[in-house]
Amino acid sequence: MIIPREHNLLLLLIVKYNFLIPFARYRCGIHMKEYIKINKKRWEELATIHFKSEFYNVEKFKEGGISISDLEINEVGDVKGKKLLHLQCHFGKDTLSWARLGAHVTGVDFSSRAIELARQLSAEIGIEATFIQSDIYDLDRTSLKQNCFDIVFTSNGAIYWLPDLKKWAQFISHFLKLGGFFYILDSHPTGNIFDDECENDLIVRYPYFHQEKPLEFDEEGSYADERTKLTNTKEYGWAHDMGSIVNSLIEAGLRIDFVHEYPFVAWKMLPFLEQKGDGWWHLPERFQQVPLTFSLKATKNSV
Ligand SMILES: C[S@@+](CC[C@H](N)C(=O)[O-])C[C@H]1O[C@@H](n2cnc3c(N)ncnc32)[C@H](O)[C@@H]1O
Repeated sequence: MIIPREHNLLLLLIVKYNFLIPFARYRCGIHMKEYIKINKKRWEELATIHFKSEFYNVEKFKEGGISISDLEINEVGDVKGKKLLHLQCHFGKDTLSWARLGAHVTGVDFSSRAIELARQLSAEIGIEATFIQSDIYDLDRTSLKQNCFDIVFTSNGAIYWLPDLKKWAQFISHFLKLGGFFYILDSHPTGNIFDDECENDLIVRYPYFHQEKPLEFDEEGSYADERTKLTNTKEYGWAHDMGSIVNSLIEAGLRIDFVHEYPFVAWKMLPFLEQKGDGWWHLPERFQQVPLTFSLKATKNSV
């Protein structure tokens, strides 16, 4: 059969496009967006549950007090009069705590429900704050202005949800003023490798090094309420090794001021951790101590 020349061209294009589409989708990050969409659904549901949970104890917070640890407060320093951007702010308890300490605060989270609750909480306790609903990777589409913040802050269970730390660091740098700094306190990449279902030992189960393919979990419960039965059980997360965390920030133009490692963590991330009088969860003494938390401060260079 003879195919006319123009049909030949069409056939070629169809074959070519069918062949290229999966690559184009992958390169455009459509798969990443899918994972984030599934995570968002879970966090929409979690926001309401957490707001009512004993773990977050919102009723006590309404009466006053600060939900940020003394460790973070000491390492961040005086925030009075400073413009502070809180990334992945959940329903704003920590954001509003920074406001109670004197900062002018803006919180960002991709969960609409969390942002709704944050605004409600801020109005109820009469503390001024701005809350913006946005995916971290869409921050350039929000009303946030470049070079605007003295401090960018994030903590406790933040970077696990992020597939791409290079982009994350670029956003942090973009929104910081020259001379402003970024501060993070989160679970340590070493602490994250251990089996969280093993009842009595430190067994390596998860990757230390970053992989593009996410870790996948199917879980009805939550760290803040184990008895809860979620409808959105699927979640995706990414390991980030210490090198990737530090280098993403350096490559984005920040100067590392310090990296600290601690043998305790803010929540019971392994079944046999013990909560001590300081409020942190520690490994029992029979173990060699390993880092479970890290903190890092990095400044946007003024030259
Ligand atoms: C473990 S919580 C952080 C908790 C917070 N440190 C606190 O104690 O209130 C993680 C938060 O990240 C948010 N999150 C996850 N992925 C996100 C993304 N891609 N963009 C923006 N927020 C995201 C979730 O909605 C959730 O509020």
